[in-house]
Amino acid sequence: MKVTKQKGTRDIYLDDIKIWQFVERNIREIANAYNLNEIRTPVFEATELFSRGVGEETDVVNKEMYTFLDKGGRSITLRPELTAGVVRSYIENGFDSYISPIKFWYMGNMYRYEKMQKGRYREFSQFGVEIFGSKSYKADLEAIIISSNFLDRIGLRGKYTLSINSIGCKKCREEYINKLKSYIKPNLSSMCDDCKKRYDKNPLRVLDCKVEKCQEILKDAPMILDNLCDDCKNSFNKVINSLEKLNINYKIDKKIVRGLDYYNGIVYEYTSDDLGLAIGGGGRYDTLVENLGGASTPAVGFGMGLNRVVLLLEDMKEKLKSYVDVYFLITNDEGYIKSLDVIKKLRENGYKIEQDLSEKSFRAQLKYADKIKARYVIILGEDEIKNNKCILRNMENGSQKEICFNFDEIVDNI
Ligand code: HAM
Repeated sequence: MKVTKQKGTRDIYLDDIKIWQFVERNIREIANAYNLNEIRTPVFEATELFSRGVGEETDVVNKEMYTFLDKGGRSITLRPELTAGVVRSYIENGFDSYISPIKFWYMGNMYRYEKMQKGRYREFSQFGVEIFGSKSYKADLEAIIISSNFLDRIGLRGKYTLSINSIGCKKCREEYINKLKSYIKPNLSSMCDDCKKRYDKNPLRVLDCKVEKCQEILKDAPMILDNLCDDCKNSFNKVINSLEKLNINYKIDKKIVRGLDYYNGIVYEYTSDDLGLAIGGGGRYDTLVENLGGASTPAVGFGMGLNRVVLLLEDMKEKLKSYVDVYFLITNDEGYIKSLDVIKKLRENGYKIEQDLSEKSFRAQLKYADKIKARYVIILGEDEIKNNKCILRNMENGSQKEICFNFDEIVDNI
């Protein structure tokens, strides 16, 4: 029986991998420009990290985690996201005594047991940034600038919407939640089961409900953005004003509350109309470090869903196709041995070179060279070997000429 890949996972290869490499190259360049430190944390962590960090009542923890007991009887979870892992590492490695603020970036796979559809996978990858140690709106802004810069830089400007909201600090949120609960209470019995649960455990998430009857009830609900304290209002306005000045397009969406429990203050999401899905999201999470056992540390960050970003870049495939500089077309052992030195030197000098590895005929090699998009073919037949010459064929226009068979002459002609 054939073994096939698991549902919601993908093999990435040939043309597709070129898009991934292009995206990854840009991420590394951005990380360098913003002086972000790369961090790599384990793919599996103690389950408690996510139940405490991300929140027991979230869909991610409640419904989507890959959790199992290891052979030592420990409850282990494949990371469904990376913020909690980075915070664990921040605390465990004492980064607070290093520099502050400290900025990290990561790229890696995460796992959520979700219903499959285009752009929704069980193994997916994110590029994320986490900044620890700043209460200032400037840290929120920096995270938004990095994430929008990333999308613009890879060619997605105009193809996404940045929606932004503030869900307030502990103080203003508590007051607001009382208001929201009083508004909901008379209609609670007609709301969906999830909302009934959320009403007690995490009322803010009621606003995120997609069920029509709940949305109808909530349409005149008070909004947290209209109920912020002065500090939260100030930070929000400063970020908005800066976005205007920077020409970063945004839309205020009072309903954004995010699906993970650790957020406070400014939160945002990037969505793609073409996909009808979020391609990234983030915000401030000032209590997570403390909740996971560290000292009280303000923090902001975001995660961009790379599988979705790559889907939006499909049409770059042709442009990113790679070319081979020279294919060496040789059908006898003497020529093969003679060519190895020159081929080695060309490769050492950055040229992409291919040669026959499977005793193909002349015609089959020419076909192969065409398929791998060789720009030039060098033909080394018996006569050429004798005269220390070779035939250089330009594959674009089919022209060919005889040149000396040595490194300098080849480089001069390609
Ligand atoms: P998130 O909104 O859960 O946030 O995920 C961020 C992005 O990951 C989403 O916008 C989406 O593009 C992508 N994503 C999520 N689930 C899937 C899936 N099943 N298949 C494909 N792509 C998916 C976080 O994970 C936070 N840790 C972000 C953050 C960092 N907040 C502060 N710091």
